[in-house]
Amino acid sequence: MSTTVAVKDFPVINAVVRELRLPEDQPFQKCLVLAVQHVHSSMLALLAGLRCGGADPASVTVVGKSYSTRLPAVEALRAAGARVVDPLRMADPLHSYEDELAAQVTSTIAELRPRLGAGTGLLVIDEGAVATKALLQTGDADLLSRVHVVEQTTRGARWTEAAAPPFPVVDVARSAAKADLEGPLVTASMVDGLSMALTALNHRPERIGIVGYGRMGARLAGLLSADHAVVVHDTAAQNLAAARADGRRVLERDALFDEVDVLIGCTGSPILDAGDLAAVTRPLVLVNGASSDIEFAVWRYRTAAAILPGSGGTADQPWLNHYAVGPTSRQVLVAGGFPTNFHLPGEPISPQDFQVTRALMLAGATQTMNRSEPGLVPLDAAAQAIVADAYGQVTSLSGR
Ligand SMILES: NC(=O)c1ccc[n+]([C@@H]2O[C@H](COP(=O)([O-])OP(=O)(O)OC[C@H]3O[C@@H](n4cnc5c(N)ncnc54)[C@H](O)[C@@H]3O)[C@@H](O)[C@H]2O)c1
Repeated sequence: MSTTVAVKDFPVINAVVRELRLPEDQPFQKCLVLAVQHVHSSMLALLAGLRCGGADPASVTVVGKSYSTRLPAVEALRAAGARVVDPLRMADPLHSYEDELAAQVTSTIAELRPRLGAGTGLLVIDEGAVATKALLQTGDADLLSRVHVVEQTTRGARWTEAAAPPFPVVDVARSAAKADLEGPLVTASMVDGLSMALTALNHRPERIGIVGYGRMGARLAGLLSADHAVVVHDTAAQNLAAARADGRRVLERDALFDEVDVLIGCTGSPILDAGDLAAVTRPLVLVNGASSDIEFAVWRYRTAAAILPGSGGTADQPWLNHYAVGPTSRQVLVAGGFPTNFHLPGEPISPQDFQVTRALMLAGATQTMNRSEPGLVPLDAAAQAIVADAYGQVTSLSGR
C-alpha cells in the first residue's frame, strides 16, 4: 500500500479540502489529533486531508479498533509519519472489547497530555464516544478547555448528548448525508459478511429476526427480506410504526427470540445477556449488525474450547471466530459477537467509497475546530451537501 496518498486521488475529500478552504485557513495547525477509528486504507486519505489543513503527521495518533484493523493500513500510516496504537489482540476475550479499548484510549490520552503545551488544542476524531468518555473521566479542566470532538457513531452521539461535555462536539453520526451515502455501503457489506459466516457454519436459516429498526436495521431488513422471512423488534414506537409502514412483521422481543433462526442486533446497546441466553433452549445464531461487541453480553463463552470449525483466528482474536455459546452450547455467536462486515477478508468497503465517511469526518473536524461553544451540534448542512455532490460525481463517473 502506498504511504503517500494524494488528496486529489480522493475527490470527495478533495472537495471538502477545497470548499472549506483548509489550505488557506489551516484549522489543524496548532493541535494534536487523536483518532479512534477503523484503520483501513481510507484513513490515509483522511490523514492527507488533515495535512492540507495544517496537521503535522507526527501530531496524529490513531487508536485502532483491533477487530476492524487491517495491517497494511497500519504500516502505511506509520510510514506516513502518524502514530498507530493497536494491540490487534485481546488480553481477555471473556470480557467486552469495549473495556480494553477504553483502557487503551485512557493511557493514550495520558501520554499525549504533556505534549499539549500552551495554545495547543486537541482534535478528537471519535467513534462510540470512547475518547470523549475517557477525557471527561480525567476531570482535567485545562485539558478539557482545549478539546474539540467530531463523533462518527449514533451510539456515541447519543451518549455525548446526554453527557453534555464542556467542549464542542460535531455530530456526523446522525447526519442525513451519512445515513444516505454510507448506510447502503455498510449494510451491503454486512450482508456479505453474514452470508460468508453462514456458509462457513453450513447454516441455511429461514427466519431472521432484526432487533433495532433504525437506519441500519431498516436497510438490513430490506436486503434480507429478498431471501428470508424477516421479523423485527424495536423499543421505539416511532420506529415500530416505520417497520409496519414498510410492511414488516413486528414481534415483541421474547416472541421474536422464540421464533427466529438468526437474531441480528442493530441497536448499539446490549440486547441479550448470559441470563437471557440461558432461557433460550432452541438453536439460535447471534449476529452483530451494529458496532463493537456489545449487542450480545455473552463474552464469558468466548473460550478457546468453544471455537467452532469454520473459524479463522486464535483465541485472542475473537472477531475471527464463531463460538458455540449458552449453557448447552446450542447457540452460535458469529464473529465473536463483532459486526459481520469486519469479518470479511480485505476491507469491507473500498477506499473510494469509504472516503464519504472520512470526508464527512474531515468536514466535522473543521467545524468543531472553528467552534468554542460547548455541546453537541449537527454537522453543517452545507458541508453535507459538498460531500453528497462530490460523491454523486464519483458514482456517476464510475457508472455505479
Ligand atoms: N459496523 C459498521 O460499519 C457500522 C456502520 C454504521 C453504524 N453502525 C452501528 O450500528 C448501530 C445502529 O446504528 P443506526 O444508525 O441504525 O442507529 P439508530 O439509532 O438509527 O437505530 C437503532 C435502533 O435500535 C433501537 N433500539 C435501541 N436499543 C434497543 C433495544 N434494547 N431493544 C430494541 N431496540 C432498541 C432504537 O429504538 C433504534 O430504532 C450503531 O451502534 C452504529 O454505531 C455500525
